[in-house]
Amino acid sequence: MATRKTPRSPRKSAKPVVAAGAYRRAHLALQEERNFSAAVLETAGAMVVVTDLEGRIVRFNRACQLVTGFTFDEMKGKSSWDLLLSSQERDERKAAYRRIIADGVTVDHENHWVDRGGTPHLISWSSAPMTDADGVLRNVVRIGTDISEHRRIEQELQRSESALRASQTQLRLLAAGLTSAQEKERKRLAVELHDDVLQRMAALMLELHSLQESKPATGRELVDRLAAVEDRLKALARDIRRTAHQLHPAVLGHLGLAPALKALCEDVMRQSGIEARLTVREPALHVSGDLALGLYRVAQEALDNVVTHSGAKEVRVSLGLRNGSLLLSISDGGRGFDPEEARQRGLGLIAIEERVRQMGGTFTLKSAPGEGTRINVAVPWPPKTDAPAEPTA
Ligand SMILES: Nc1ncnc2c1ncn2[C@@H]1O[C@H](COP(=O)(O)OP(=O)(O)OP(=O)(O)O)[C@@H](O)[C@H]1O
Ligand SMILES: [Mg+2]
Repeated sequence: MATRKTPRSPRKSAKPVVAAGAYRRAHLALQEERNFSAAVLETAGAMVVVTDLEGRIVRFNRACQLVTGFTFDEMKGKSSWDLLLSSQERDERKAAYRRIIADGVTVDHENHWVDRGGTPHLISWSSAPMTDADGVLRNVVRIGTDISEHRRIEQELQRSESALRASQTQLRLLAAGLTSAQEKERKRLAVELHDDVLQRMAALMLELHSLQESKPATGRELVDRLAAVEDRLKALARDIRRTAHQLHPAVLGHLGLAPALKALCEDVMRQSGIEARLTVREPALHVSGDLALGLYRVAQEALDNVVTHSGAKEVRVSLGLRNGSLLLSISDGGRGFDPEEARQRGLGLIAIEERVRQMGGTFTLKSAPGEGTRINVAVPWPPKTDAPAEPTA
């Protein structure tokens, strides 16, 4: 800018020189400030977009370009809602934009920007009106962050939290149910011991006492009565063994899973009349320890369900190996059921699921009304621990 000289007053003539220097310095400072702001704008992690009052883009920083795939030159003078907003959000955003201008207030909101490839990004924005030096509203500046990934993780967390809560509730139900089932079982055993075993022992003692007292007439009569006592003692021993076996299948520890399943199938046949057939696909397979006990309990519960609910005449149990898994399946051709509805009814199926989960395996239940039921359990084989632990329950 040109400087004016006034010869009459040297003091006065110095002033424009000072003013020109100050002006240049102010101009440079302003320029520096602008460069600094532009650099900050470009390198900021946040998205910054500045629009005029009609919504046309006048600034579109690097972060915006990275998210959308559009360059500033492509966006300059165009409106973001026509190019970047989905048609569903367009009208609502235009109305909100008009409100920012009319009310002159800062507004926080979220909307989706669809990038060049068609992928939507959820952006969290803060939009503020911007005035010039005279206080006239000229632009709207929006600062945003792409929160798509954050929201996705948040939703996934919520989903896994509710899945965790559901399984905790299931476990609580199971724990409560198992305690009451254990109580019932103890009561049944107490009744069996008291009313059955003790009564029968008392009767045998009476018989022996009466033998002592009554002095049988002949040796033959004595032999017959003693033989009868022996038969009753044998039956009693057999029943005590059966009860003990129900509490813990000793054969599991000695011979492994396959013979224990065979004995279980025989028990089912004897007690219910349902034909229970076991197929062991690898006769040399020896499953023992906790794994054997877990699978035995699964079969026990599944067979109990067949007896109680299926109405089937026959049930098939099979044990075999496939693709690094040990497979146990129990299938019947009975009345079947809707697995979703059955979930609330009892604890047997939940207990099977939980046991299989603890064994690191998978459980599948296939059933539908009128179409029978099939339970498949697959556990990793060979088991991880090479020294199988003793059965524990
Ligand atoms: N093999 C099956 N055939 C037909 N219905 C079955 C069979 N297995 C299970 N169900 C149905 O699924 C329901 C749930 O079975 P689950 O074993 O979980 O409980 P429950 O047998 O009723 O009681 P419990 O807790 O004593 O085992 C049963 O009530 C029954 O309606
Ligand atoms: Mg059951």
